[in-house]
Amino acid sequence: MRLQGLLLLVILASAEISDVDDSDSNDACYICKCSADKTNVDCSKRGLTGIPDGISEKVMRLNMSSNEISKIPQNLNKLHNLVELDLSNNRVSSIPEDALNNMTSLELLNLSQNDFNSWLNLNPNEFLQPATNLKILDLSHNKFYTMDNLANQELLISPSLETLILDNCKITSIRGRSPLSGLINIRVFKINSNPLSRIQGLVSPTLKSFYASNCLLSSINHNELSYLPSLVYLQLSNNNGLVLYSSSNTVMSNSLKYLDVSYCNIMQISLAGFPNLRRALISHNVVRFLESNNFINNSKLEYLDLSYNNIGSLKSDTFRGLGTLKYLDLSWNEIAHIPEDSLLEMPSLTQLKLRRNYLTRVGHLSSTSVSVLDMSYCEINTMGKDSLEGWQSLVDLDLSHNLLSYIPDSLSSNTLKYLNFNFNRISAVNNATFYMLPRLRGLGVIGNRFTTVWSRSYFDSNPYLERLDLMDNMWRCDCADSNMFDFYEFVTLEPNKKEESYNLICNSPVNLVGQTWLEACYFSWNPTDKKANADALIWFIVVMIVGLALCLTLINVIRRSMNRRLAGLQEERLRQVEEARDRLRQLRMRAEQEALCNAPDPRDLVAPPSYDEALSMPKLTTSCQSLCDERTGKKKRRKGRRKTKSSGDLLEETERNGDLSVGDDLELNEAPETQRRRRRRRPRNFGSHEIAELDQSPGVRRRRMSEYGMSGNESFTVVVEPVLERPLRPRNRRYSIDDDEPRESDF
Ligand SMILES: *[C@@H]1O[C@H](CO)[C@@H](O)[C@H](O)[C@H]1NC(C)=O
Ligand SMILES: *[C@@H]1O[C@H](CO)[C@@H](O)[C@H](O)[C@H]1NC(C)=O
Ligand SMILES: *[C@@H]1O[C@H](CO)[C@@H](O)[C@H](O)[C@H]1NC(C)=O
Ligand SMILES: *[C@@H]1O[C@H](CO)[C@@H](O)[C@H](O)[C@H]1NC(C)=O
Ligand SMILES: *[C@@H]1O[C@H](CO)[C@@H](O)[C@H](O)[C@H]1NC(C)=O
Repeated sequence: MRLQGLLLLVILASAEISDVDDSDSNDACYICKCSADKTNVDCSKRGLTGIPDGISEKVMRLNMSSNEISKIPQNLNKLHNLVELDLSNNRVSSIPEDALNNMTSLELLNLSQNDFNSWLNLNPNEFLQPATNLKILDLSHNKFYTMDNLANQELLISPSLETLILDNCKITSIRGRSPLSGLINIRVFKINSNPLSRIQGLVSPTLKSFYASNCLLSSINHNELSYLPSLVYLQLSNNNGLVLYSSSNTVMSNSLKYLDVSYCNIMQISLAGFPNLRRALISHNVVRFLESNNFINNSKLEYLDLSYNNIGSLKSDTFRGLGTLKYLDLSWNEIAHIPEDSLLEMPSLTQLKLRRNYLTRVGHLSSTSVSVLDMSYCEINTMGKDSLEGWQSLVDLDLSHNLLSYIPDSLSSNTLKYLNFNFNRISAVNNATFYMLPRLRGLGVIGNRFTTVWSRSYFDSNPYLERLDLMDNMWRCDCADSNMFDFYEFVTLEPNKKEESYNLICNSPVNLVGQTWLEACYFSWNPTDKKANADALIWFIVVMIVGLALCLTLINVIRRSMNRRLAGLQEERLRQVEEARDRLRQLRMRAEQEALCNAPDPRDLVAPPSYDEALSMPKLTTSCQSLCDERTGKKKRRKGRRKTKSSGDLLEETERNGDLSVGDDLELNEAPETQRRRRRRRPRNFGSHEIAELDQSPGVRRRRMSEYGMSGNESFTVVVEPVLERPLRPRNRRYSIDDDEPRESDF
């Protein structure tokens, strides 16, 4: 106990010492998570109300986000190496004008999700000025409510700020004095997810990116963007009522290169005011038609997404002027007809998406540049023989999910590599179908109506074919037809495998429905295998039986030998137990003998013999060892005297009775045979092993001689036994009453 206490003390002491060490170097790292060089400290989510003391001056990034800070802490000024300070998700509602004194390295200040509710509480004129390197200020998720007619003292002023984030600030309108006028270096202004319905008078000569998506804007004045002469990126998506064009004016920006007005309410596209536009995202609007020369002034446009509109018609000169357009997405519209030469207006177009329109035929369209054409999910049911001839650069044609029921013979293209006819209604092809497609690499006809197995010869002129998707057709498996096997090999044999064999499923005849070609035709294709198979089965059974028999024999042999060994072990153990018992018995007898000889019998002290006994007792003239023999003699006499009990004998008598009763119990439980053996053994053991020590006594010698002389005579041993036992047992009992019974049972 005391040792444990001492140990505890030592541990406590050493812990205290190490504590002191830590706080010497940096206390804050105990509370917060510091990087090894202590330039990054993360104190986020620790319930702090201020910046912990003892943060190293070296700190460059401090994260105090998600704490309980309600005002900018005083000790911030000491951390003049700070580059990033994250105070987001706290309870700051005002900032003193000197809050950032000395913070000349600060580049990012995150004050999002705090409790600001007015511009004045920020001290917006002053508080940013000491931070001469501040680039990013995040004020999102506060409640500024408006940027309408801001007073001079409500304007943020910073000579260095480049990015101002005001997402989710419940701002309804920007009007009057420009909120950016104090930010002479501003580049990025984000005001997403505000209930903003008006932008008017936003002026900045430097602003490049303006984000106002997910607001409530419905229109933008045609000259609004002219106050932002550097604007390049305009994100206005998800303004569900926004219209860019009204008959009277069209929004203009000479600098704009990227415009996102997806998920708005644009009915009529007018991008004429954006002559430098590169990318225009106008998907998910309500455009109904495209006019002639719709993009005539967008000669630099490269990417035009018009998907998910309601465009029903195009003019042949709709795309005129789109000289650099590379990507045109017209999918999910209602286009039923594309004027034949309209695509030729776009000499750089490489990808054209017409997915899910109302086209009914692959017309005679021409394009010198398109390499990827997607006409899937239309309602195309006819395809002219010459329909690919106009596509001079076509590489990948997707006609999946249409209503085609045949592929015209001799479709010809010198460039086409991938042809997708998946999920149509085609039921037949022949050796002329792909004859004129020398570059064909991949062909898909998944989910069509083919029944007759194709032939290898269909692809005689398509040396590059490496992929053939034949899944989910209604193949009739005529295994006897050698062509089927031939085609199967053509399709599945390595190294020119074109389709997985498990995709080839029979649909008829009835008995083979659902089986793979291989399963269905295995024995037709491998007639020798069938017999071999049967043989193999017999062999297998024979081998199994022999093996089983061998196994059983082996197990039996092992079990028998185990049993033998077990029996041997048991015998050995029994022998050892018997020996141990013998040794124990002898030891005890010896101990009793010695005790008897060395100590005076307390019984004799307590109860002196009666006068008669004393008279009959021999005189103590022999040595101590021989006393044992003297006692046997005395006992013999005592036993005979039992009928004449004297008061002095009372103690001895009770003990003897107890002794006898135990002995009787024992004998009742034992067979007479074992009793006899036991009686025979006891004197023998006594006589044979203890002789050396008892030798001196003449009484013993006498008795031994008589024993030898009458060995085998039972009646004699029965007589001798009590003589030997009586003087020993009561003594034994007196010293260790508890031990007595187990020892009795030993016998
Ligand atoms: C600050 O910690 C918060 C919460 O652990 C985390 O979301 C945020 O990204 C961290 N800020 C910086 C700048 O690492
Ligand atoms: C400002 O920074 C300097 C070191 O650049 C430092 O010595 C001084 O104590 C800081 N001032 C305050 C008010 O912490
Ligand atoms: C400011 O913190 C918020 C919340 O932790 C985070 O979502 C936002 O991205 C941070 N702003 C900047 C500019 O890192
Ligand atoms: C479009 O370009 C033409 C000249 O190519 C010019 O006359 C016209 O004003 C431009 N339209 C707009 C809206 O800028
Ligand atoms: C196509 O097969 C037919 C017979 O079925 C044959 O007469 C014709 O010559 C073959 N055409 C080509 C181009 O292999």
